[in-house]
Amino acid sequence: MLQIMHLFFLLLGLSPFATSDDLPTLYEYYTTDGVSSGLSVDQPYFTLNGKNITIYSGAMHYFRVPSQYWQDRLRKLRATGLNTVETYIPWNLHEFKNNVFDFGDGGSDYQRLLDLDLFLTLAKQEDLFVIARPGPYICAEWEWGGLPSWLLREEAISVRTSDPVYMKYVKRYFDKLLPILAKHQFTKRGAVIAVQVENEYASAPIEKDHAYLQQLVDLMKDNGIVELLVTSDGAGYGTDGTLPGVLFQTVNFGSDAKASFSKLEEMQPNKPLMAMEFYPGWFDHWSETHHTVSNSSFVKNYEEVLAYPASINLYMFHGGTNFGFLNGANIGSGDNSNFQPTTTSYDYDAPLSEAGDYTDKYEVIRTLIKKYNPVQTKTPDPPELYERQVYPTLAIEGQLGYNDIIRQAPSTVLSTSDIPMENLPINDNSGQSYGYIVYRASGIDIPANSVLTITGHVRDTVMVLIDGVLISKPLSSLDDLNTFGFWKLDNSNITLTTSDLVNVSLDLVIENYGRANYGNFFHQFKGLTPDNRVYLNDKELQSWVIFPLEFQKSWNTKLTDWQPAGDEPTKGPGMHKAVLNIDTYAERYNDTYIDMQEWNKGIVIVNGFVLGRYAFIGPQQALYLPGAYLQHGDNEIIIFEQFESAAQVKFSKDQIYKNP
Ligand SMILES: *[C@@H]1O[C@H](CO)[C@@H](O)[C@H](O)[C@H]1NC(C)=O
Ligand SMILES: *[C@@H]1O[C@H](CO)[C@@H](O)[C@H](O)[C@H]1NC(C)=O
Ligand SMILES: *[C@@H]1O[C@H](CO)[C@@H](O)[C@H](O)[C@H]1NC(C)=O
Ligand SMILES: *[C@@H]1O[C@H](CO)[C@@H](O)[C@H](O)[C@H]1NC(C)=O
Ligand SMILES: *[C@@H]1O[C@H](CO)[C@@H](O)[C@H](O)[C@H]1NC(C)=O
Repeated sequence: MLQIMHLFFLLLGLSPFATSDDLPTLYEYYTTDGVSSGLSVDQPYFTLNGKNITIYSGAMHYFRVPSQYWQDRLRKLRATGLNTVETYIPWNLHEFKNNVFDFGDGGSDYQRLLDLDLFLTLAKQEDLFVIARPGPYICAEWEWGGLPSWLLREEAISVRTSDPVYMKYVKRYFDKLLPILAKHQFTKRGAVIAVQVENEYASAPIEKDHAYLQQLVDLMKDNGIVELLVTSDGAGYGTDGTLPGVLFQTVNFGSDAKASFSKLEEMQPNKPLMAMEFYPGWFDHWSETHHTVSNSSFVKNYEEVLAYPASINLYMFHGGTNFGFLNGANIGSGDNSNFQPTTTSYDYDAPLSEAGDYTDKYEVIRTLIKKYNPVQTKTPDPPELYERQVYPTLAIEGQLGYNDIIRQAPSTVLSTSDIPMENLPINDNSGQSYGYIVYRASGIDIPANSVLTITGHVRDTVMVLIDGVLISKPLSSLDDLNTFGFWKLDNSNITLTTSDLVNVSLDLVIENYGRANYGNFFHQFKGLTPDNRVYLNDKELQSWVIFPLEFQKSWNTKLTDWQPAGDEPTKGPGMHKAVLNIDTYAERYNDTYIDMQEWNKGIVIVNGFVLGRYAFIGPQQALYLPGAYLQHGDNEIIIFEQFESAAQVKFSKDQIYKNP
């Protein structure tokens, strides 16, 4: 038996002596004699409750992972020897409408991703400390960097500054959020050892407003936050993003630890060193080549930090998924010409894959932490993987054509001016946050060879339909991005018809492809924004019937008038339904990927929940469908395809990448 055990440990790459059950847990090690102090930076190394600690952390965002899997992912994190999990906190989900909150029971479509209290409880149960990064701005390749889009309804708002209009909303949100964090603090016997203030504030392209940072600090203290308060920035930005003496500074980088840490030592002498964001991988934008970071360069750069020695957070340890419409984007100068939307998958080429698989980097972390961490504590064995399954290919059973969708639009707004989605008088006056918006000019005459012009850059894609028939082109290759219908062109135009049309409706279906999360991201209106004027030849169109298409769960699940699917693919926007029947009950159904290679562009909805976006141009070709989102019996899969439908829904065991 002993020999078998020995062999088992050898197979895991562990010494049987180091993993003795006699080792204390992390909490036992740091709290056996009671808790009198939290994380301290009063000396050139961290101490926690008076004992030396090096923070070996990994990022995992609870809102990017099904809550049913949090415990599994946290245990996989702890099994590497990492002692801390880091997470951002997304304001846009937790306050999904103005003054309407969701911390797991608020009734929003994303409710089941939002039980922060449970996540923090599980982190402690899994023997991990927590670094919480509540922003309020979080970047994170996340819709508008985590800011709620209804803030845009305040005309004169200056986000990320001490502007009283902005701060009034921050205070109201923080007063709800921070008590949850406060009760989970280490010195209150919880898991949270540090809280970050704002996020990479030094690189915000605005005049630095240190009164703003101080007000955030005050709000945290007023709400009982007593643990270490930190900031994180690239080292090259100096102290622009922090309050020296008030906030502890950490640095972000992907390589050359020495360069960043020596700058940090100059700015903040005789203090511990920490990389808050060290990048073991990277994320993808649609239309780019899939990004990876090789095992060898990861090992080299990670070990350089551990050997320095310094504390480090792996951003990301487990990336997860930008479910629904929640991906962010890069934006460049701000006019949308260099818009780059982030993909649905946030796999990040991280040590734990999107679906929770171990990668080469995972093993490297286990080995290196064992080598460098002088503190020996008990770690669990790496859990067995959840299985994935290629479910049978499904035929499309039902279809809803464009006109049938619009007839069921959740609301109709009449307007005599161009009004962006955020300013619609819907959702308790919080406007439309996500999805598509239709602007219809009805009862108009369109003479032959008429040209439709949209000034400025479209935000972000537009389809043009006449009487429900698609006129504009699908997104079939990268070159199409340089044509009408997409964001790159300034003042773009399209010729509508070669014959005279009388008394028709002209529809513009405009997509919010994800608000920018980084850079010059301040004016993130979507739909027809103040930059966009619409001309039919020389005449400006301003009289609109507007249909918001938000694809909210309550709407998705009660659509009617489904027609049997024909044999031919349909052109133009439509919804296509298939049913996955699971006839045997199980505690947990197998995960899978939906293979979207035969489709062009759109979103996939499973049991009413918007799983995410797909796009033929790649690199991502399949959508992760966690078994946790499947149920016994019928599972309704609806595809909203913008351009050209396929006849079936296929599954895949793994993600599929196709570089454009
Ligand atoms: C804590 O770490 C410091 C710096 O490495 C070291 O000098 C000190 O001896 C350590 N203390 C203990 C109790 O290990
Ligand atoms: C990753 O790099 C480490 C360190 O060089 C090496 O031991 C390990 O075998 C590598 N893993 C793979 C799968 O290449
Ligand atoms: C339409 O756009 C093209 C290319 O950008 C331009 O050459 C042409 O003059 C425009 N047509 C009209 C009528 O504005
Ligand atoms: C225009 O079309 C609408 C809807 O098809 C119809 O109700 C209306 O009578 C038409 N108007 C004229 C002037 O033909
Ligand atoms: C999951 O997949 C495995 C192998 O593909 C299969 O043996 C198992 O029965 C599946 N589980 C469920 C709940 O369907």
